[in-house]
Amino acid sequence: MQNILIDADTGIDDSIAILFALKQPGVRVVGVTTGCGNTSAAQAAENTLRLIHLAQPPYNVPVAIGANAPLVGQWDGPVPHIHGNNGIGDVELPVSPQKPLAEPACDLIIRMVRKHPHQLTLVTLGRMTNLALALEKAPDIVPLVKNVVFMGGTLHHPGNVSPVCEANLAGDPEAADLVFRAGLDLTMVGLDVTMQVRLTAHHLDMLEKYAREENRPIAAYIRQAMKVYYQFNRLQNNCLDHCPVHDPLAVLAAVDPSLVTIRRAPARVECGGTFCRGMVVADFREHPIDAPYLSICTEVDARKAVEKLITAFT
Ligand code: BDR
Ligand code: CA
Repeated sequence: MQNILIDADTGIDDSIAILFALKQPGVRVVGVTTGCGNTSAAQAAENTLRLIHLAQPPYNVPVAIGANAPLVGQWDGPVPHIHGNNGIGDVELPVSPQKPLAEPACDLIIRMVRKHPHQLTLVTLGRMTNLALALEKAPDIVPLVKNVVFMGGTLHHPGNVSPVCEANLAGDPEAADLVFRAGLDLTMVGLDVTMQVRLTAHHLDMLEKYAREENRPIAAYIRQAMKVYYQFNRLQNNCLDHCPVHDPLAVLAAVDPSLVTIRRAPARVECGGTFCRGMVVADFREHPIDAPYLSICTEVDARKAVEKLITAFT
């Protein structure tokens, strides 16, 4: 059994990642923490609770609300043109009887790492603020974390919020750089690979056709939420009835590392500049900068990844 804790800014692609993790055999989600990004940290938690209720896992998944601002500066606010007004494509999922914990996200991260020493994979799908706060508060957890897989950043692919920056890292560069410097086993699932994997209208048809009886509400939810996400991707990226697979690919890579090819290099996150604030700086020189090594996903088996994603519900 692989234990994972997910940190998310529960928008549309986060929601599919969470549902996949809850349905993938051999995976146990020990908790979900939320932060601001696609939506507020509180709305992300509300969305997460409803998604857990929709998935009905046979065990309890605690949800904790985290940072509603980056380490430096303020959150810019939600992005309804990408993720709808509620973060999950304006789909009104049934309310969950479960409530978020009173415990803040960073404390849940610390508690779960200590509860599962060397056996917990942390997967971050938004800004790294909650993880950075946990590391600041309890630096002793670093050697206890099995590994961290994050969706964010880009090495060679163009950025999505500036020519060289991806949204999750640009949203809190200081937090990301703190995590990069911590000395964790850290894997980047960035735009280099997430832009290679596409969820198409045909895939949605297959999901609805083959979804197990108990997963039919999930298939219907994904179909509905995708309307907003497809529209954004059509207007912004010329995608005709398909979209990149960002956050689900981070969970997929955490669960099945054979899906991706990795290059390793010392890396930091640029915390200054106008166009480069939030950029991943990986050093492939013979005598690189003094920084911990980052595992960077550079290639992905796109067909296998998307089929594995859909098969979790069939
Ligand atoms: C990332 O930004 C968010 O909008 C998505 O949920 C994903 O985590 C892609 O750049
Ligand atoms: Ca996200």
